[in-house]
Amino acid sequence: MKKIVVLTGAGMSAESGISTFRDAGGLWDQYPVEQVATPEGYAANPKLVTDFYNARRKQLLTVEPNEGHRLVAALEKEYEVTVVTQNVDNLHERAGSTHVIHLHGELTKVTSSQNPNDPRQIRELLPEEYEIKIGDKAADGSQLRPFIVWFGESVPNIEVAADYVGEADIVIIIGTSLNVYPAAGLLYYTKDKTDIYLIDPAEVKVPYDRYVHVIQKGASEGMRELNDLLRTT
Ligand code: APR
Repeated sequence: MKKIVVLTGAGMSAESGISTFRDAGGLWDQYPVEQVATPEGYAANPKLVTDFYNARRKQLLTVEPNEGHRLVAALEKEYEVTVVTQNVDNLHERAGSTHVIHLHGELTKVTSSQNPNDPRQIRELLPEEYEIKIGDKAADGSQLRPFIVWFGESVPNIEVAADYVGEADIVIIIGTSLNVYPAAGLLYYTKDKTDIYLIDPAEVKVPYDRYVHVIQKGASEGMRELNDLLRTT
């Protein structure tokens, strides 16, 4: 079986009703990124940050995977697929993808504010636990924090993701502005003969000198078009 890596960003979930970050009216227009997505912001106002992620987590209960997520999951019928996502939602998993690497953490999980990457501290929440409060404690006794990789923090899954990208026959990029590193740099690991496709309704500046087959469409429509292409090539 050929190997596919699907690298996704916020645009993957846009058709499910989750805001992107950098489009007009996106999340970073509504909330100052340095307040809600940095360790300094968390240190300055843990309640504001906790409430921000509580709201994101509750929104997850009201949204569904879209056709794009389902078409990505369906690739597993014919390919060995790894989804590498910058998204913190669980819509790829809910659509049926079985191998998903989250680069920027997962909304449904919480961890210790002292040792966020210690696997013993990371815990999946039940939906009835989605509201975290100041005073809730991790296993090590420190304040429970969202299992989210904030700006300025290390991205522990980048190496395993790079290994999969390096092995891929086909890489499909969907719905990311490729502004955030190290995720945006993952394509440097592709082999010369790897086919690269990019699905995004906007023009995305690709930061490397490689031929990229661009499908300038939304995630669902773009995945339909890509499926036709994969069938004929
Ligand atoms: N289908 C596909 N792509 C879409 C759609 C759609 N329906 N609607 C918008 N997009 C595209 C936009 O054109 C843009 O290129 O999704 C992309 C979203 O870009 P960003 O908002 O920058 O999101 P992303 O690239 O995922 O951001 C990376 O930055 O702050 C963070 O940690 C956060 O993981 C996030 C990271």
